[in-house]
Amino acid sequence: MKLKRYLLGGLAVSILIIACKTKQKTQSTTTTTTTTTTTTVVVAPAQSLLDVASVKYPGILQADLDAGKKIFTVDCRKCHGMDPIKSLEEDKWISVIDVMAPKADLTADQKTKLLQYVLSQRKLDTGS
Ligand code: HEC
Repeated sequence: MKLKRYLLGGLAVSILIIACKTKQKTQSTTTTTTTTTTTTVVVAPAQSLLDVASVKYPGILQADLDAGKKIFTVDCRKCHGMDPIKSLEEDKWISVIDVMAPKADLTADQKTKLLQYVLSQRKLDTGS
């Protein structure tokens, strides 16, 4: 019995894959859209404390008013309670603060901020 030997030669199959990649540069475009919204206020908004204060003290900052308010609500209440700001006339506040500022150990700058806050708040509260 002849044994046929099939010699299978090594079959080298070379598969050459050429991947041809075409790189396309994608340009990303950023589009900025600016939307302008116009709001129509039907009801007149209440004037803010800063609005009122700015009439008498041009250039005053919200931070000045906040500082004045803090002095009024913290330092000035160390010894006693306080009637509403609008219950005293402007002149009365000026003279009272002259007397009370040293009692509260206020610096000249703190006294100024307190006065600006109190007089502006009074104006806002009384509307005059
Ligand atoms: C060390 C305590 C003390 C501090 C701090 C103090 N007060 Fe007074 N305050 C008094 C005393 C005492 C009186 C009442 C006697 C008087 O009028 O001097 C008074 C009275 C007042 C009155 C009534 C005045 C009147 O004539 O009706 C007002 C308003 C007032 N203080 C505001 C302030 C303000 C604003 C501050 C902050 C700057 C302040 N007080 C801080 C002790 C103090």
